[in-house]
Amino acid sequence: MHLDNDTFLRALRKQKTEYTPIWLMRQAGRYLPEYMATRTKAGSFMGLATSPQFATEVTLQPVDRYPLDAAILFSDILTVPDAMGLDLSFVAGEGPKFSKAVRDEESVRALFSPDPTEKLGYVMEAVKQIRKALNGRIPLIGFSGSPFTLATYMVEGGSTRDFRLTKNMLYKRPDLLHKILDVNCKAVTDYLNAQIEAGVQAVMIFDTWGGILSHADYLEFSLDYMERIVQSLDVGTDEEKVPVILFTKGSGAWLKELGNSGAEAIGVDWTVGLKQAREAMEDKVALQGNLDPAVLFASEDSIRCQARKVIDDFGMVGQGGHVFNLGHGVDKAVLPESVGILVDEVHKYSRKYHQ
Ligand code: CP3
Repeated sequence: MHLDNDTFLRALRKQKTEYTPIWLMRQAGRYLPEYMATRTKAGSFMGLATSPQFATEVTLQPVDRYPLDAAILFSDILTVPDAMGLDLSFVAGEGPKFSKAVRDEESVRALFSPDPTEKLGYVMEAVKQIRKALNGRIPLIGFSGSPFTLATYMVEGGSTRDFRLTKNMLYKRPDLLHKILDVNCKAVTDYLNAQIEAGVQAVMIFDTWGGILSHADYLEFSLDYMERIVQSLDVGTDEEKVPVILFTKGSGAWLKELGNSGAEAIGVDWTVGLKQAREAMEDKVALQGNLDPAVLFASEDSIRCQARKVIDDFGMVGQGGHVFNLGHGVDKAVLPESVGILVDEVHKYSRKYHQ
């Protein structure tokens, strides 16, 4: 498989690169006027996500605008519970909503792991079309939510601030939560394997809400399931091996455990120092992150200065192992020019560490 720019994959494999590669979580999204135009054409977020043609269009938008080192499949983590029959919609101003929540014995028993080539066939078709449209320019990242993060949306029926129903189930009926997590674990494994089969060149698991758990509960209800997935992915071998990135938001307390998870790379948010993370993980894995997304609201000078701080914090002259990213997604109110400034600074400044 030839790639014009494989810097991102080499950095994940901790091989030498010429500069620090960069891509951004939520790089396709509402801060881009061209995204808003396509979303209007598609009628709704789900209209956009379920059309391979529109999904391809919006995946390419940020990589056509900026010299990013990777593209990420345009979809959403919640398409998996949607394919389980929970019926996802996005209500304006309210975020995601499931018409069926999973809160009792009966609804847990009814859960099943969907055949990804059938129910999520539109995602696999999008992967194929995006690979064609990228034509070997940069690698394509596939993704899924973690079993625990998906479970929070399934139990709550949508977004939540306090995770009351999820925690209630965790402490009152841990067996029920484990049953949901078992189904999610299989669903995510099959889904990511189907994405790899369709052509994604790296995969990332988003564990956005693992950080709300206690130490012991994180290991039992989130990390353990992610490790099972990492072990069951058909990632291939050697140079063609598909790297796996795990991202738990708020993972500062579990860096050591994450470093031993079997994943090639760990995504960290901005509350963790990259030097501290490297030390905790004993340089066993590559790191992805971790500029505070709010920096993109600052002046050009500030954006450049803060980007340099992240690169300096990682340090390491002459080696790969760092993929620059934000510590979480790009905010919808960010000015598109600010993203361009960030990409430029990372590409230029990081060269001194890669001679
Ligand atoms: O560019 C990319 O990163 C790829 C696309 C992507 C989206 N969602 C598109 C999207 C990815 C990787 C996701 C992951 C996702 N979705 C996560 C994990 C990462 C994270 O951000 O923590 C989570 C928790 C979700 C769930 C989700 N999707 C919520 C809570 C919302 C509503 C909040 C909001 O910003 O409106 C979404 C909708 C969503 N997914 C949008 C996009 C671009 C915005 C929808 C719109 O166009 O209005």
